Amino acid sequence: MIRDLTDDQARAALPLKWGAVAPGVIPAWVAEMDFKPAEPIEEALVAAVRRGTAGYPAFGDAGLGAAFSGFAERHWGWQVPAEATLPTGAVMSGIRLALELVCPPGPVVVPTPCYPPFRDAVRITGRELVEVTLDPDAETATMDLGEVERAFAAGARTFLLCSPHNPLGRCWTRDELAALADLAREYDVKVISDEIHAPLTLPGSTFTPYLTLDETAVVVTSASKSFNIPGVHGAQLVVLDPDDRERILAAPIPAQNAWSVFGMIAGVAAWTECDAWLAALVERFDDQRSRLADLLATQLPEARMRPLEATYLAWLDLRAYGVADPAAAALDRGVKLGPGSDYQPGLEGHVRINLATSAERLEAVVHRLATAVTTVSS
Ligand SMILES: Cc1ncc(COP(=O)(O)O)c(C=O)c1O
Repeated sequence: MIRDLTDDQARAALPLKWGAVAPGVIPAWVAEMDFKPAEPIEEALVAAVRRGTAGYPAFGDAGLGAAFSGFAERHWGWQVPAEATLPTGAVMSGIRLALELVCPPGPVVVPTPCYPPFRDAVRITGRELVEVTLDPDAETATMDLGEVERAFAAGARTFLLCSPHNPLGRCWTRDELAALADLAREYDVKVISDEIHAPLTLPGSTFTPYLTLDETAVVVTSASKSFNIPGVHGAQLVVLDPDDRERILAAPIPAQNAWSVFGMIAGVAAWTECDAWLAALVERFDDQRSRLADLLATQLPEARMRPLEATYLAWLDLRAYGVADPAAAALDRGVKLGPGSDYQPGLEGHVRINLATSAERLEAVVHRLATAVTTVSS
């Protein structure tokens, strides 16, 4: 059911991920998968192209909201009205829109490490960034709510959450999110929750939609990550508050960061017809995370991998090997990884590994990384 791409196919299908590396180098950096999209998505897009459907999308969400509501109910038991979905081009443009249109002015709190464009979104909307650092030495990566509260008490009224978390692979528990929601209520803070990785919650963890705890929040999500279709540009805001919805719907065209007809068509197919494909994908990642743990145990025994509860992005602490920039060392040995300092400036000795690939490539990735850090440090 999951259709693996050969190197040549991947180079054609994933211009960013594979185009950034020389032949022979394995790209395990940006969050894209070395698999074809699910067949129902492929069929829907091919049919659209054959019909010549390449015009502006219609007003409205083209069925995306109803499709997402069905998915949310089946997967998380969450009843969210279809009209809560407002289309946007990409998750990051949705976050920018939310910051500009419905968040109170002033500083924005972001747990760090974070997906790097979070920092850019705060900067380009003219806000001050307040980072709440997740301690790299802590046993479990938890948000320090004391620090969050101090930021709220000092005046921040916006919180940018990534749930589940990239790059730490954490699926926040219901209790953790409820505690955040309580604080947000107490200080009248608007939470933007980026839930793009939610469908990729792995066995052993349970995803809690943040809006079920805080109806004033804005969720931004997309089928793009879980179904490997970021290039078709169809994301969505999910907004329960009618005033916020009104403000977003009234946004002028240049502010809206337009979505595409292909994005809407692919999104509807993903949310309605791909449950079996998604289940096979999650099973595949469950295998890959065990494989990665085994490979690390034998080849990089001093590495510390954060428990991977969601996403296909593993976060590795390699500080024990004494290499400040293991991603740079690994690139010299033929594998491109995400440097830890991209997610947390100044953080040394960490990398993010993308395991959405074949078992063979993952084995080569770990082997090359192990050679890189053990050779540099010896
Ligand atoms: C947490 C998170 N948000 C947003 C994105 C990007 O989404 P989009 O391409 O829809 O902006 C990514 C991509 O990896 C991500 O990990």
